[in-house]
Amino acid sequence: MDYLPIFTKLSDKHCLVVGGGNVAERKLSLLVEAGAEVTLVAPSINEPIQELIKNDSQISLNLIEDGYHSSLMDGMDLVIAATDDQALNEAVSRDAAERHIFVNVVDNPSLCTFIMPAMIDRSPVTIAIGTGGTSPVLARLLRGKIEALIPHRFGALAGLAAKYRERVKAALPKGPTRKAFWEEIFEGEVAEQVFSGNQAEAEQQLEARIDQGSSAQQGEVYLVGAGPGDPDLLSFRALRLMQKADIVIYDRLVSKEILNLVRRDADRLYVGKEASNHCVPQSQINEMLYKLAKEGKRVLRLKGGDPFIFGRGGEEAEELFAEGVPFQVVPGITAASGASTYCGIPLTHRDYAQSVTFATGHLKNDAVDLDWPSLARENQTLVIYMGLGGLKVISRELIAHGLPADTPVAVIHKATQAEQRVLISDLTHVVQKVQDEDMRPPSLLIIGRVVALHDQLKAKAI
Ligand SMILES: C[S@@+](CC[C@H](N)C(=O)[O-])C[C@H]1O[C@@H](n2cnc3c(N)ncnc32)[C@H](O)[C@@H]1O
Repeated sequence: MDYLPIFTKLSDKHCLVVGGGNVAERKLSLLVEAGAEVTLVAPSINEPIQELIKNDSQISLNLIEDGYHSSLMDGMDLVIAATDDQALNEAVSRDAAERHIFVNVVDNPSLCTFIMPAMIDRSPVTIAIGTGGTSPVLARLLRGKIEALIPHRFGALAGLAAKYRERVKAALPKGPTRKAFWEEIFEGEVAEQVFSGNQAEAEQQLEARIDQGSSAQQGEVYLVGAGPGDPDLLSFRALRLMQKADIVIYDRLVSKEILNLVRRDADRLYVGKEASNHCVPQSQINEMLYKLAKEGKRVLRLKGGDPFIFGRGGEEAEELFAEGVPFQVVPGITAASGASTYCGIPLTHRDYAQSVTFATGHLKNDAVDLDWPSLARENQTLVIYMGLGGLKVISRELIAHGLPADTPVAVIHKATQAEQRVLISDLTHVVQKVQDEDMRPPSLLIIGRVVALHDQLKAKAI
């Protein structure tokens, strides 16, 4: 190890920054954020630095425009040189080293006695990434990956732990019991409440857990939208909960690639659904969810698209609420959004459609029972989920209620996935064409003049 990562306390320390451009500004901002008293040496300073000085009365900044002199090192604890002048950078490095002051010369590791890491700031939690000065780009790439894994409000969780530390100490014996308690808090519902911004609820639950002492953990349910199939469309929160679950209950619309991202050792339960061929009845799924949670499990209910759009997530949430089981719902990209963007059909457009309606074409007793007059309006886009079975009725009724027979229709199969297929037709011919081309579920119908844009925009889609 060439460099030892340490975290230094800079409040009330004296730091010297040489330079007045963009790079100097970034270093200055970090030092100021850490509470340092900064002397800045530069013949001129850029606008952001001027703004920083003007807008932040907390900044303790001594601006020297006469140029650098080694006497400026007196009393300094840390020095950063960020100039384009190599001779000046070398002089600053040498002067600091002679006085045993830690010095960093930006982008010049050989002149540094310390280097700045790439940082992830979830204060009070901070993560520093270093590559020993070999590749700042690599450090930044790694930072991007870690950023995605750490919830935005992670720092608030550390704050909560600090607030309750003494109470937990008093309530639970030192050793494995206390350790298990904190693990449960950091991985369980309390942490989820913090990450969702429900601080008061999190504190209430934490207090209840402290009162319970070392008894068993409570389970919870995550109703997670997995999106239309492309794993890149998962949200950070969805991915995090997928990695945490003890058991996953999923249906037919969840793609294999997405399922592969669920924690490896989580149990898997398929409750697949196809129109008119429900594998496990909804009431049984509801029961399964709360029963497993009551056994103390973290249950992931993974659903295609968005749980609250034709996904029966509402019914599941109602049942969990009635049973007093903690749960959270994570939105997913619904099939309409995924299909629209991946095949270049905007759902609204100033020239063609001022509104968009999502409807289900699911047959009830062999009939599609929809509000046809409101659906058969021009200047709107109609998106029909589960519409293949009732396509004949849908196209006939839309024409009968006034939509022109040549209104364009797109049928999109397995949108956003490698097997995506798009069929373009119109209300008159779509039934035949769907038959000819053997389009199968899951497929989505987009009906309206925006469909005509597909030809032009398809190449740019994705
Ligand atoms: C029970 S609904 C679930 C909708 C889901 N909750 C959502 O927000 O996308 C199932 C229907 O959604 C549509 N669908 C879902 N994923 C799709 C995809 N990747 N491509 C095309 N249609 C899809 C199909 O119409 C399918 O029959």
